[in-house]
Amino acid sequence: AEGAARGLAEAPAREAPVYARAIARRAEAAPPRPVPQGPAALREELAACCACPLWEGATQPVPGEGPEDADLMLVGEQPGDREDLAGRPFVGPAGDLLSRLMQEAGIDRSRTYLTNAVKHFKYTLKGRQRLHQSPGGGEVAACRPWLLREVDLVRPRLLVALGATAAGALTGRADGILRRRGTIEEGPGGTPVLLTVHPSYLLRLPDPVAAEMETERLRRDLLAAREHLDRPTSA
Ligand code: URA
Repeated sequence: AEGAARGLAEAPAREAPVYARAIARRAEAAPPRPVPQGPAALREELAACCACPLWEGATQPVPGEGPEDADLMLVGEQPGDREDLAGRPFVGPAGDLLSRLMQEAGIDRSRTYLTNAVKHFKYTLKGRQRLHQSPGGGEVAACRPWLLREVDLVRPRLLVALGATAAGALTGRADGILRRRGTIEEGPGGTPVLLTVHPSYLLRLPDPVAAEMETERLRRDLLAAREHLDRPTSA
């Protein structure tokens, strides 16, 4: 019995190197998947989001894009047809106009984080055409945790709400965007939010004179955003 007991007691000591080698071999064969962090985790989790019904009709969710240390974050409404197919924000006609106005206002798009209040494309079908539909309050609320995570991840010095949907998601109020545009309100975590209109609004204006005036105002709002960032921080 004593020998058997000693044998048992000795077994782990004798076996340990064998186990260690087996574990090492297994680790080599299947290295542990790195736990995704930051934007990678957000993308991965967002890909599985079904918090509202919009995921069913969309090709894919469209996460925000831009540097993690961006000072400026622009928030739109939701991906359009082109963004839904590309999986990237602001790559369609509204994005082209926005890029041009950003450039004219001296804002580097590659240094800016661009995202949307809602990450899936909402549309109705007219024949084979997918026509944009504005997201409802429930969809904006369901998607808000993603937007807040992006704000928390990037911690921009300034947010710009492009249109009423983004204003609602960032300030809690979507009304009166034409009255509030050009002003700065408080957003998530106290981050300032500059309010303005959405570039699609300009593209939909039927009167070319009104469209030109509104384009100039959006350009000025973007310039105000740049000037806000150019001011020295009080810290
Ligand atoms: N409109 C938006 O609000 N976001 C996009 O990404 C494209 C168009």
